[in-house]
Amino acid sequence: MLGPCRRAPAFRSNRRSEPCPPTTPPDHEAPADRPIEALLRRRWSPRSFTDQPVSAAALETLLEAARWAASCNNAQPWHYLIARRQEDAAAFEALLGCLTPNNQGWAKHAPVLMLSVARTTFPANGNPNRHGWHDTGAASAQMALQAAALGLQLHQMAGFDPARAREVFAIPAEYDPAAAIALGHPGSADALPEALRQRETAPRARRPVAEFAYFGKWGG
Ligand SMILES: Cc1cc2nc3c(=O)[nH]c(=O)nc-3n(C[C@H](O)[C@H](O)[C@H](O)COP(=O)(O)O)c2cc1C
Repeated sequence: MLGPCRRAPAFRSNRRSEPCPPTTPPDHEAPADRPIEALLRRRWSPRSFTDQPVSAAALETLLEAARWAASCNNAQPWHYLIARRQEDAAAFEALLGCLTPNNQGWAKHAPVLMLSVARTTFPANGNPNRHGWHDTGAASAQMALQAAALGLQLHQMAGFDPARAREVFAIPAEYDPAAAIALGHPGSADALPEALRQRETAPRARRPVAEFAYFGKWGG
C-alpha cells in the first residue's frame, strides 16, 4: 500500500507572462496560439530525468488522477503495471527489456517505468469494449497533467514489444498492453547524447487547429 496522498499545488493562471516552475524550462512550455490552462502548457515528454526518486505519495496521486477519467459505461478499462527502479529492480529491468533499444537508451535513467494496459472487454458481460484503448489513453492524459502539477513529467512510448510485455508480466488475453511510460523529475538536456539532446531542445510544434477541427462537414 502506498503512503497517503499529498495535495497537489493549486493550478496557476493561464497568462503567458507567468513564470514557469523550475521543472518546466520556459522553452518547453507549449507556445499555444490561444490562452489555455498553464498545466496543459507545462506538460511535456522529457527524455532526461534526474536521479530524484518519485515518492510513494506522488505515485498514489498520479494513479488517483488516472482513476477519475471518464470512460464508456464507467467501465474504467485502464490498468497500470508499475516498476520502481530503486524499490523493485527486477520488475524495472523486466519492463525496460520490453522497450525498443532507442527508448531503453534514455528510459533506463527514469526512476519509474509503467505500462498502461487496456481491458478490451466490458467486465459486466464480456462484450468487446471498442473504447478500451480510448479510455486508457484518457486516463494516462489525466495522469500526465497531474504529474506536471507535481513537478514531475511522464513520457509515453509506443516503442515497446507488447507480446514480450504480455509474456513477461503474464497479462491475460482480454487486456492489451497500450503504452510504456517513463516517469520522473525532468533533468538537463545536456545529460543526453547529442542526437537526443537536439530532439530534447527542439521547438515544440503542433499542426494548426484548422487542420483537425471540421465544422459541419468533413474536411472543413
Ligand atoms: C502513445 C504515444 C506513444 C509515444 N511513443 C514514443 C516512443 O516510443 N518514443 C519516444 O521517444 N516518444 C514517444 N512518444 C512521445 C511523443 O513523441 C511526444 O508526445 C510528441 O513528440 C509531443 O511532444 P510532447 O509530449 O513533449 O508535447 C509517444 C507519445 C504517445 C502519446
